[in-house]
Amino acid sequence: MSANILAHSRADERRSQADATDVILTGDRPTGSLHLGHYAGSLRSRLALQGQCTQTLLIADLQALTDSSGRATHVARHVPEVALDYLAVGIDPAQTTIAVQSRLSALAELTVLYLNLVTVARLERNPTVKAEVEVRGFERDIPAGFLCYPVSQAADITAFRATLVPVGDDQLPMIEQTNEIVRRVNRLAGASVLPECRALLSSTPRLPGVDGRKASKSVGNAIPLSATTDEIRRLVLAMYTDPGHVRASDPGRVEGNVVFAYLDAFDPDPTTVCDLKERYRGGGLGDMVLKRRLEGVLEALVAPIRARRAELARDRAYVMDVLRAGSERANATTEAVLRDVRGAFALDA
Ligand code: TRP
Repeated sequence: MSANILAHSRADERRSQADATDVILTGDRPTGSLHLGHYAGSLRSRLALQGQCTQTLLIADLQALTDSSGRATHVARHVPEVALDYLAVGIDPAQTTIAVQSRLSALAELTVLYLNLVTVARLERNPTVKAEVEVRGFERDIPAGFLCYPVSQAADITAFRATLVPVGDDQLPMIEQTNEIVRRVNRLAGASVLPECRALLSSTPRLPGVDGRKASKSVGNAIPLSATTDEIRRLVLAMYTDPGHVRASDPGRVEGNVVFAYLDAFDPDPTTVCDLKERYRGGGLGDMVLKRRLEGVLEALVAPIRARRAELARDRAYVMDVLRAGSERANATTEAVLRDVRGAFALDA
């Protein structure tokens, strides 16, 4: 009962930020399987909006190559894996187009055109790019493709005339840079060829990894969308809580406590979570009680996803067909937009 109320209120909240005329485009880099952070941050919004608006999900393999060119086969292998994750959580290809970035040649041509509207200094100032350059330790050896990926992402978004982009808050600088490009194209064309877009942010804050640091597929601190029961148990047990909370009777900290971050994101009964926080703060509630509760909540969420994924994984031809049909449909859309943008640059339509 309360689970349904919560599911509805969260879905309603997202719908109220979108209207039926919105065009939704978002994407994921196929560098690994998706995890619960993706689910809380963006997949849940996409599910809520499915059928309400025109929606396309882009598997951004070209963007993945901008920092992983040495792992090209790894990236290629993960294209169908990400598609499986989408289908397993309930993305319906009859309502949502799933397309592969590298199969849409209009995106490459749009990127080349947009590169003329952006300075290197502006790209170097992009906070997301700056942070990622630091994490990857590129220093002076930044691949040019990596520095320019915000331009390619602007191509992704504008090629669908997207108005709403469900993403995590780390992607806000990408939206801002896209809108700068949109305004320049429109000024060049002397007409409104492309719409500006806005981000659709999740109502739950970014989920940490089980160790409290940034969740990452490569660090192994994220909970995969199709985690096994054992994996869920192991990862929940490993969750960082409050090192000062030694005995159950000690008062505990809720802020920065990973178990509470996950309960806030996924527990269908927020009133009880609120209660548990109170008792934890006051002392008298052990970590294991919370961890067992979370284990149950995550198992209930993940079990149907895991089962559906296993079933779909047996039908490779179906998954490939979804990607082929989706990319074909997306090609028609993006080629039409490219014609308009070529016009803005006085190139033959
Ligand atoms: N940059 C996004 C990420 O790392 C993935 C992405 C590629 C994307 N193209 C996009 C997101 C277009 C939104 C819109 O998660």
